[in-house]
Amino acid sequence: MDPRVSETDLKIGSQILVNEAYAVIKTLGYDQNGPILKLAEAMSDGRLRFEQEMGRQSLILQRSTDLVGVELKAGDEIRIDPSHRVAIEKLGDRKASRHVLDETPKITWEQIGGQNEAIAAIRKAIEYPLLHAETFERFKFSQPKGFLLYGPPGCGKTLIGQAAAGSLAKLVSESKPEHQPDGDKRTPVTGGAFLHVKGPEILNMWLGESERMVRDLFEQARARRRDGALPFIFIDEAESILGTRRAMRSFNISNTLVPMFCSEMDGIESLHDVVIILASNRPDLIDPAVLRPGRIDRKIKVSRPNRDAAAEIMRVYLTADLPLDPALVQERGGEHVRAVALLVEDIIESIFRRTEDNRLLSIRLRNGQNKVLYRGDLVSGAILASIAQRAKEKAIDRTVQSGQPSGLQTKDFTMRRRSG
Ligand SMILES: Nc1ncnc2c1ncn2[C@@H]1O[C@H](COP(=O)(O)OP(=O)(O)OP(=O)(O)O)[C@@H](O)[C@H]1O
Ligand SMILES: [Mg+2]
Repeated sequence: MDPRVSETDLKIGSQILVNEAYAVIKTLGYDQNGPILKLAEAMSDGRLRFEQEMGRQSLILQRSTDLVGVELKAGDEIRIDPSHRVAIEKLGDRKASRHVLDETPKITWEQIGGQNEAIAAIRKAIEYPLLHAETFERFKFSQPKGFLLYGPPGCGKTLIGQAAAGSLAKLVSESKPEHQPDGDKRTPVTGGAFLHVKGPEILNMWLGESERMVRDLFEQARARRRDGALPFIFIDEAESILGTRRAMRSFNISNTLVPMFCSEMDGIESLHDVVIILASNRPDLIDPAVLRPGRIDRKIKVSRPNRDAAAEIMRVYLTADLPLDPALVQERGGEHVRAVALLVEDIIESIFRRTEDNRLLSIRLRNGQNKVLYRGDLVSGAILASIAQRAKEKAIDRTVQSGQPSGLQTKDFTMRRRSG
């Protein structure tokens, strides 16, 4: 061995340069690249067992010097050397956090127009058990674990989920620890944590990866609970991962996400531990096992706004303090606040008017009846929000371009029908 090479440089798994006589000249350190495998078992003698992807043999590898004595557990990701002989390093935890929006949303109930029934239902279901814990205890009432918010796109499911989390987190942090029933040994809740994931983002083409992300999600929630926060798991577009097998756009041969999710759900106790909110616009596609009593057994409908609700939504976006064009105020009696109110009325009227202009399509029902759908029948919170948004954009443009303050005008709200 070359005297410049010391014994300690010779690590298991590292590459060495030898001369023709196989005398060590230099150590080159570990390979920098190599495949990553998921650890199946850390055997008691220190060796590591790996399962490979379908159909390939499992492997038993030795640890590199740097891994000797390192605590490893099943599921850890380990990089091995390219010749599949030595496990080289443990990779840092790639948590589900990549897909998790982890802060409590600031949305309040006031920012949601209409949806009074849905909001009342969800507030009752979430807030009562916390505010009246003793009463629930006395009736030995087992609290729900979660909710499904369902309804057509753009009508506020995500918004309501966020507001629920925001308000509950606030409630929890304000309520005193006495709310905890006697004999309850859990860490008192002192705040909220909101874990927001979008179903499609969890879907991963690698076998087992989506499952791991779901497991991570629950693991994170439990960790948050131990720290004293009441975690919310909000799974948006839930049908994409919790769908029936038929519905899944999944390439996995067998869908193991649903059983996995169910067993994680069965492991949590109630709203005291973790609150799960699912949102979906295709609740019919969600696997019934998920919606079974004892799991997500509360379903709350978030429907399309009717005329009154639409006006309420519009009022969320068109508040009385927005600048209006003086001419518009004049036209409507000269009083600003009233002018805004009348403007909202006009916009809603123009959307809900059953005129030829507002006619969208005519459908033939199975029973032979014809039904004509007007714009008002298909309006949603998202559409109303965007109408307000575009009007404001136009007014801002005008202000910037003319260099003079300009207010909202009626014509900013008129929409040209898309042709074709
Ligand atoms: N009831 C409402 N009040 C105020 N704004 C609303 C309401 N409903 C929808 N919006 C507006 O529309 C946007 C989209 O709503 P949201 O994301 O909650 O819809 P969704 O029901 O989750 O739709 P999807 O099924 O497509 O996910 C919101 O960000 C908000 O600006
Ligand atoms: Mg949504």
